[in-house]
Amino acid sequence: MERTFLMIKPDGVQRGLTGEAIARFEKKGFKLVGAKLMDVSRELAETHYAEHKERPFFGELVDFITSSPVFAMVWEGNNVIATARQMMGATNPADALPGTLRGDFGVNVSMNIIHGSDSAESATRELALWFDENEIVSYDKTISKWI
Ligand code: PPS
Repeated sequence: MERTFLMIKPDGVQRGLTGEAIARFEKKGFKLVGAKLMDVSRELAETHYAEHKERPFFGELVDFITSSPVFAMVWEGNNVIATARQMMGATNPADALPGTLRGDFGVNVSMNIIHGSDSAESATRELALWFDENEIVSYDKTISKWI
């Protein structure tokens, strides 16, 4: 079963959009197996976004992610990595379609509500960075046979 790392960014938490995002992924049939509201250290933010270190917005990105709590999540399901990205919409909310989280609620490329792993390799790296194995729950959902 595939897993991905999703994170409601500070703007999403502040605007009360955490429940809306969770509801969408739940209704799609994905399973929440880990979650925590947390302050992000600069070290964690810089490691998480390390691939963007040389980009001009890196400092601004780290400042933003550490400015207020985020809601970090582990989701499980068939093709959850790619499907969650589709449900999030394009990075720039101006390009994100209505019906996606960023299309419906995003403000700009920084305040775009949510982060999601963009590949299996990113998911593996990000899950290990943000969650200890004992913070991820294993359980059956009786609805599983329908989705
Ligand atoms: S992507 O998804 O990699 O193609 O998008 P990219 O444009 O490379 O953006 C990567 C992450 O950086 C954030 N971002 C910014 N933050 C602050 N200021 C500016 N100008 C900016 N541009 C991009 C963007 O929201 C992406 O964050 P994540 O959390 O990975 O979605």
